[in-house]
Amino acid sequence: MNGFLEVLYDDHEKALVELDQLEKQLDLVRKGELERAKIRIAAFARFLEDSLNLHFVQEEKALFPIMAAKIGPGGPVMVMEMEHNELREAQQALKAELLKESIDAERILQYGSSIIEVLRNHIAKENQVLFPMSEQILSADDWKKAEELAAQIALNKDNF
Ligand SMILES: [Fe+2]
Repeated sequence: MNGFLEVLYDDHEKALVELDQLEKQLDLVRKGELERAKIRIAAFARFLEDSLNLHFVQEEKALFPIMAAKIGPGGPVMVMEMEHNELREAQQALKAELLKESIDAERILQYGSSIIEVLRNHIAKENQVLFPMSEQILSADDWKKAEELAAQIALNKDNF
């Protein structure tokens, strides 16, 4: 497997660990322990904003366009992009709620649960469908270009 795809799969594993942790914190919120859970939920919001967003941008700029060139911009590529945007919106809503002086626990549960559901499904689709498909349709040269672009995106915040 090429280095770029390896990184993307690794990122998914990290994200699944973060989601398990978020689920535990939401259970605390359900038991009325929002104050105790707040720091870890805030750290999760930060993880989405930084690490996972870098992963999304690498996919959107370095992988999806070369896939779209072969299979078309609709279908799986479009669905993945829509889900990234849905997750970004949920992250912003979660963060905005955490920044409020009086936090609504129900909203934290709503945004958090939605992120868990959407992101787990999203990762499963990429791991089981999109990534195996990309290995079949992209050439060694495509991967070389994608790897270089993904590295540049990681190095240069202006590319975000
Ligand atoms: Fe991904």
